[in-house]
Amino acid sequence: MPKPTHHIIVCTNQRPAGHPRGSCGENQANEVFEKLSMGIEQKMLFGKALITNAGCMGPCSMGPVVVVYPEGVWYIKVKPDDVEEILESHIIGGKKVERLELPEEMWG
Ligand code: FES
Repeated sequence: MPKPTHHIIVCTNQRPAGHPRGSCGENQANEVFEKLSMGIEQKMLFGKALITNAGCMGPCSMGPVVVVYPEGVWYIKVKPDDVEEILESHIIGGKKVERLELPEEMWG
């Protein structure tokens, strides 16, 4: 197996309905994960991208959260319809999808 150039981490944490923190899982995170997985396969990106699902990464109310390394780009509110753009622009083209990026001022 070739060493991947990108690691895509998707929060698929699911909290019970009505939980005050919400969760990525209640906002289609599993669909995002499955669509990314399928896209990696269909676009033959095996040596380029590795995908992993993960538990909570912090910004739950802005989920689904997807993080891409080595750039350390945090995407928020990712929908299944955003997957194609993430794969084509970021993973294949090397250009992050700025409209989905967690604003820098959110870090503090
Ligand atoms: S539940 Fe996904 S970041 Fe917390």
